[in-house]
Amino acid sequence: MKFFIDTANIEQIKEAQELGILDGVTTNPSLMAKEGIKGHENIKKHYKKICEIVDGDVSAEVIATDFEGMIKEGEELASLDEQIVVKIPVTRNGIKAIKYLSEKGISTNCTLVFSVGQAILAAKAGASYISPFIGRLDDNSTNGIELIEKIVEIFDYYEYDTEVLAASIRHTMHIVQCAEVGADVVTCPLNAIIGLLKHPLTDIGLENFLKDHKKLNK
Ligand code: G3P
Repeated sequence: MKFFIDTANIEQIKEAQELGILDGVTTNPSLMAKEGIKGHENIKKHYKKICEIVDGDVSAEVIATDFEGMIKEGEELASLDEQIVVKIPVTRNGIKAIKYLSEKGISTNCTLVFSVGQAILAAKAGASYISPFIGRLDDNSTNGIELIEKIVEIFDYYEYDTEVLAASIRHTMHIVQCAEVGADVVTCPLNAIIGLLKHPLTDIGLENFLKDHKKLNK
């Protein structure tokens, strides 16, 4: 399973990269706004900066909602760096834009996926990734992990190349559950990734090892 970090925060991206487990980054307009990145040129510069830090794919989302606008923006984003994956919402125009861009060899990430049907259409259009939002489904009393499981099963059955990128991950257990059902990628906040390391028995065990070593090595 690949690990992406879901942020536009440079420090957090660097921290995850230094861990040595990072496979990519996902951003969205809200995450960019949270970092105060505004204006066309600054947004492009920020994506380029992220690409310099990480080795893997970097999702950059289009703002346009019409087909022409989406492909124009998508082509511009893709030209910034070969690591850029154009993130496009699962709308009618979005599906058309994914088809168009994928035929041109541009990687795409179909976002705001909340149903199996949306995932199938995006895969048919040639999306490189589809992003089901599991946390937001859980927030609405719907099991997000079950959606990931169903999509993984269908994509395996039809041997679609599209990767299932579990998004809107809120905590460590979401990551573990995604691994259990075979998600290709998880995109997570840094604290959820770090949370995987936590176990009180590890802390106690390490403390005792060091204590025992110190007894004989004063
Ligand atoms: O990048 C899309 C997704 O991960 C957003 O997560 O926490 O805003 O639902 P969240």
